[in-house]
Amino acid sequence: MKRVLISGGNGFLGSHLVRESLARGFEVTVVDDMSTSNQMNVPHEVKFVGKRIEDFSTNERFDYVVHLAARPSPDDYVKHPVDTMLSNSIGTKNTLEIALKSNATFMFTSSSEVYGDAAVIPTPETYYGYVNPNGIRSCYDEGKRFSEALIMSYHREYGLDTRIQRPFNVYGSGIREDGAYGRVIPRFIDWSLRGERIIVHGDGKQTRSFLYVDDWLEATWEFLTKDGLSGDVINIGSEKEITIVQLAQKIKGLIGSSSEIFYDIARENDPRRRAADITLAKEKLDWEPNISLDEGLVKTIEWFRRRMR
Ligand SMILES: NC(=O)c1ccc[n+]([C@@H]2O[C@H](COP(=O)([O-])OP(=O)(O)OC[C@H]3O[C@@H](n4cnc5c(N)ncnc54)[C@H](O)[C@@H]3O)[C@@H](O)[C@H]2O)c1
Repeated sequence: MKRVLISGGNGFLGSHLVRESLARGFEVTVVDDMSTSNQMNVPHEVKFVGKRIEDFSTNERFDYVVHLAARPSPDDYVKHPVDTMLSNSIGTKNTLEIALKSNATFMFTSSSEVYGDAAVIPTPETYYGYVNPNGIRSCYDEGKRFSEALIMSYHREYGLDTRIQRPFNVYGSGIREDGAYGRVIPRFIDWSLRGERIIVHGDGKQTRSFLYVDDWLEATWEFLTKDGLSGDVINIGSEKEITIVQLAQKIKGLIGSSSEIFYDIARENDPRRRAADITLAKEKLDWEPNISLDEGLVKTIEWFRRRMR
């Protein structure tokens, strides 16, 4: 039986990966300190360790180690910059060491945030990024960039099988549904369902591209388990850009909400545009997104409605 260690496995993406791993017959261990998850999402057959990944060590052996533990929501990480940096430095080192001892395949969820305020849109993996190294978002951006550098160092020096993915705004069922979470789709859905005003930061003309979680999972599973991808860095996202105000209007429309759109001050260092160049994912993983934004939003709204009943 294959064994996988998933840090952050109680979170949004992690819990989808946990379920997929169980469905494929894997034995699953999760390390998660529940810092950004509001409830237990891990099924009982999973070995759960409620700890910070920075404080975790083990002599157990795994076939795969997947390091997801992080604080990915801007509203949250600016309040906890030190923890944000530590899970993406010491946490990355700890999980790399476990993978090395096990001779496992190591996967890391980096982020489109490594590109910062990119000058090339859609952004390919070859773009180095335009990031403020000490700005308010640097705890997250630079944490991910440091992790990538450390992972590639383990790959180059020790020959560890490493795979770095850069997800671009993944959303869908299972995403934390309360407004406190701070990511744009859950916040807009939550406000629209409650008829509260929808707060857009800045002029709302900044763009993002969104990927439904089932598409993310398909690409992730392929990237994790396919031979010949050691040392690769691959964007996992959508090429389709939408402005934040268009997103707000779309969500309002799908819900039939009376919420008004309210403009607040722009967030510091907020990238103007973001979209993924997924040429490499198409080529290496034979993958592209299947679920349109409208379809994904309808599924997500339905999930929110069920949770609010
Ligand atoms: N969802 C996205 O759109 C997206 C985009 C880019 C990158 N990512 C990356 O994917 C990964 C998972 O994101 P998510 O959307 O599932 O977020 P999430 O907040 O739902 O999940 C993260 C999980 O990690 C746990 N955690 C946080 N810090 C920890 C620590 N120090 N030790 C142990 N556990 C810790 C949290 O409790 C949570 O369960 C993160 O690394 C994130 O940076 C996500």
